[in-house]
Amino acid sequence: MEIIVAENAGFCFGVKRALELVARAAEDPSRLVYTLGALIHNPQEIARLEARGVRQVDTVDEVSDGAIVLSAHGVDPAVEQAARDRGLPVIDATCPFVKRAHGHIEELSREGYSVVILGDPGHREVAGLAARAGGKAEIVSSAEEAERLPFREKCGLVVQTTQRPAALREVAGRLAERCRELRVYNTICEATVKRQESARELAEKSDLMIVVGGRNSANTKRLEEICAATGTPTHQVETAEELDPEWLHGAQQLGVTAGASTPAWIVEEVVERLRELAGEGVPA
Ligand code: F3S
Repeated sequence: MEIIVAENAGFCFGVKRALELVARAAEDPSRLVYTLGALIHNPQEIARLEARGVRQVDTVDEVSDGAIVLSAHGVDPAVEQAARDRGLPVIDATCPFVKRAHGHIEELSREGYSVVILGDPGHREVAGLAARAGGKAEIVSSAEEAERLPFREKCGLVVQTTQRPAALREVAGRLAERCRELRVYNTICEATVKRQESARELAEKSDLMIVVGGRNSANTKRLEEICAATGTPTHQVETAEELDPEWLHGAQQLGVTAGASTPAWIVEEVVERLRELAGEGVPA
């Protein structure tokens, strides 16, 4: 049995940067460090941060003393302002690619465009994007939803950084019929595109795909969808303990990929456990 890890898998630039910023802040013994919500969508890596003294809060109101970290997904500007109003030092770990999407939405709003966001409703990045349009943005997660939007004169489309390019093409196509002028910003990040392409290529030549990453991670969910769409049996796990030996039955070539918020140590543990299971003689 051969086990191959996708060429582009695991931590992306934005997640590495966020973790480095927090690690540096946590070295300062003179103040506590709080993240607003989970810094990244990986419960195991979050537990490691907590072990280093980094605490997680849901709202700025819970903090009276200490530094506040804005997550890689970005936040509503009102939340950042609330932290500053309380006199709390703010460590902005928002990924620069998310910030680029913020800038496009602000520009569209200023120029009188109706803003449409292709993204997962309820996801923190999408909430932060929508806030940049003063709460007036419409969020769609499919071409069917885009088709139901009312006709507009001027419409601007911005995309959650972890969406599929194919979904962007479909939504942009439907939206073009729902307005007189359409401006499209492809804000899907390079790391997402590379991870998705690598996952698809590997899934196409594998008998089984294992996707490693947090269940609350949008980009990991996309990788799982992409691998499953190739017809290859696909399973998502957060840790090596979740691997089921039954999945390996009959598999000769095994592919492993991981979301942008999945640390290398978890991927290594999964690969190691897969090797053990293969060595234990899972019937081929
Ligand atoms: Fe940034 Fe893309 Fe990662 S938006 S946080 S580099 S998945």
